[in-house]
Amino acid sequence: METRFYGNKVTIIGAGFVGATTAYALMMGGTASEIVLVDINQKRLEGEVMDLNHGIAFVPPVRIRSGTYEDCADSNVVIITAGVAQKPGETRIDLLKRNIEVFYSIVPKIVEYNRDCIILVVTNPVDILTYVTLKISGLPPSQVMGSGTVLDSARFRFLLGQHCHVATQNVHAYIIGEHGDSEVAAWSITNIAGMPIEQYCLRCGRACESDEKMRIFDEVKNAAYKIIEAKGATYYAVGLAVRRIVEAILRDENVVLSVSSLMQGYYGVEDICLSLPTLVNAKGVARVLELPLSQSEQEGFRRSAEILKGWLKEAGF
Ligand code: LAC
Repeated sequence: METRFYGNKVTIIGAGFVGATTAYALMMGGTASEIVLVDINQKRLEGEVMDLNHGIAFVPPVRIRSGTYEDCADSNVVIITAGVAQKPGETRIDLLKRNIEVFYSIVPKIVEYNRDCIILVVTNPVDILTYVTLKISGLPPSQVMGSGTVLDSARFRFLLGQHCHVATQNVHAYIIGEHGDSEVAAWSITNIAGMPIEQYCLRCGRACESDEKMRIFDEVKNAAYKIIEAKGATYYAVGLAVRRIVEAILRDENVVLSVSSLMQGYYGVEDICLSLPTLVNAKGVARVLELPLSQSEQEGFRRSAEILKGWLKEAGF
């Protein structure tokens, strides 16, 4: 008789590059006590689980195993990374119709076993698939979120830190809107060591002109295309971004992360999922923060919403 295992259980649907790397990041983080991987490719699944388990001696105590949708039953968090992957040069929206079909088969099987878990969508186009998951599952908006622009905000913070010669930890910066081509850099709420970036720049002596800012933002926005062109896929940073979100849920942190969730009137946007700085805790999406963005940033955010609503309509959802 298999002993029941109680603690912080995370089930990952999809054991591809992103799913397996997310499991790898979680096992090193020490917050999850049980990690279950589910995939239709049983051979790949068993190989990933075996490889991960052979590292158990080097990380905090954790159980890692392959499983089925039944394992969603007592999972705190169910992560969806399954879907067809982005090809070099392919936009995330190109993936849309193919992945909506995949989600129609995945989401009902999750909520068949558990309607109290937090569902964290990672598969691209993540904002639209977060919305699709919310609608198919029928769960409350607080229980369904996407990795959204958490990774983009991390890229933004890293590049700003490199440019300003300051540790990433001291850079507070957010990318908002779509995790994709219409994303927006929220420069007006960017601060370093508590100072608006314009004030910090005067002190660091590099006084960035707008072309420098555009260069940094373009590097953030196009990062995935460059990495996919170079190595075929991205997985390390997104795996760590997902781990950060899962830790915020399992540890009930109330940390601010730019996850994707249902917009309910923020900056005039509703009935689509997009990323804004959000308080994340054990209940999932605790509170979306409507921060003082500039007019152009708000317009960019609304444009992001219109683009995604247009794609949803075109996909017939
Ligand atoms: C990226 C993928 C996760 O931005 O969309 O790397």
